[in-house]
Amino acid sequence: MPTKVVIGAQWGDEGKGKTIDILAGKADVVVRTSGGNNAGHTIEADGVTYKLHVMPSGILNPKTLNIIGNGVVVDPKVLLEEIDGMEEKGFSTRNLMVDARAHVIMPYHIVLDGLSEAARGKGDIGTTKRGIGPCYMDKAERSGIRMCDLIDTEKFARRVRENLAIKNKMIELVYGGTPLDPEAVIAEYAAYADRLRPYVKDTVPVLYESIKAGKEVLFEGAQGILLDIDLGTYPYVTSSHPISGGVCVGSGIGPKMIDECIGILKGYTTRVGNGPFPTELEDETGEMIRRKGHEFGATTGRPRRTGWFDAVIAKYAVRTSSLTSIVLNKIDPLGGVGKIKICVAYDMDGTVINDFPPTLEALAKCKPIYEEMEGWDEDISNIKEFDRLPAAAQNYVKRIEELCGCKITTIGVGPGRDQNIER
Ligand code: GDP
Ligand code: IMO
Ligand code: MG
Repeated sequence: MPTKVVIGAQWGDEGKGKTIDILAGKADVVVRTSGGNNAGHTIEADGVTYKLHVMPSGILNPKTLNIIGNGVVVDPKVLLEEIDGMEEKGFSTRNLMVDARAHVIMPYHIVLDGLSEAARGKGDIGTTKRGIGPCYMDKAERSGIRMCDLIDTEKFARRVRENLAIKNKMIELVYGGTPLDPEAVIAEYAAYADRLRPYVKDTVPVLYESIKAGKEVLFEGAQGILLDIDLGTYPYVTSSHPISGGVCVGSGIGPKMIDECIGILKGYTTRVGNGPFPTELEDETGEMIRRKGHEFGATTGRPRRTGWFDAVIAKYAVRTSSLTSIVLNKIDPLGGVGKIKICVAYDMDGTVINDFPPTLEALAKCKPIYEEMEGWDEDISNIKEFDRLPAAAQNYVKRIEELCGCKITTIGVGPGRDQNIER
């Protein structure tokens, strides 16, 4: 059985949750490997909408084992809220495991995320303020607290006191914030630890044995390739590795254990938070796409910035994540917007650029080179076969496929499980 990686191939929110939920119907294991509850993955199943943040999207399938891998940063309070929410809706979470190595998002991470963003002023990144960056900072600095520490009462208390002695100085003296009381944090988190203890496991051998036994394993990407800390639009990125390479470090498998890399794209481009966006539409058309596509963040509710499809980004995704196929979601909101543009390359001071530039300065000079395509007015949200799509929609998909140099196997025409066209 193939091991499949599903990643976001733009700036996140491409519809990964929907695709994972559908693929999870046949998967034995679903694994989250990076990010934390900055993610918001939406699943619409049987008329009910689920928004998952740190819980893997395989949880709706009772037969699937769901793993939160070592590369994820876990806010215990949020995870417990999600566990309770799913249990209340009738889904068992007995098939959930959290790797002992995963780092814990602490309250001081959340406070510092807010304070550092405020200190950046107009140059803020526009983070989700969930403490993601400060938690990964501690991980890299080797002062982080891991899930294995959270469930070790004495060690946890000691580590909180040690860390807060420093963090409180940063909070108070650097940023002018209010310090946290270590004893209150220890007491609050001890209760979370008691509840989470049964879920904390060494998931690395579980995953290895599952793959060796031929089970179908699905890796659920979070964020998108342009939010990758190395390959994204730095510093307007998240602090982890949403590219497919992130799956190996975030779960403990080697690259040869991956058979397929599926990139999720939207039929246009969106981004939440700040940073460059070459094809952004700050006009009526952009507003129309936002309205038709309901482009508001699943985590923070912020309106998403919208723009035309950018094939330079898509090609960058194909290359940096070894994509073997593409799922093109959300072409339905483009119906009725008139003629549709695709950015095929950039013009940088008269030079044609085909490769996504490494610096903000270069990117700022890039003007999209557009190809204009016929649009369509029909409602396509109930179409199940490619041949039944309006000719203009078929041509749009084919052109994107040609530009990306990677096959588009599925086309999303609505948020529901059955609103997909398989090719
Ligand atoms: P994720 O973070 O990649 O999982 O994506 P989000 O859940 O944040 O955002 C995608 C949104 O688009 C959700 O509201 C989905 O229900 C919705 N969606 C997914 N695929 C389609 C599609 O093909 N058409 C439409 N109209 N909506 C879709
Ligand atoms: P999913 O998995 C879209 C963005 C934030 C901000 C930047 C850094 O739903 O696609 P952070 O809180 O991570 O430090 O914020 O990254 N961001 C996302 N944008 N979808 C996401 O996840 C995102 N996760 C983080 O808006 O610009
Ligand atoms: Mg999302």
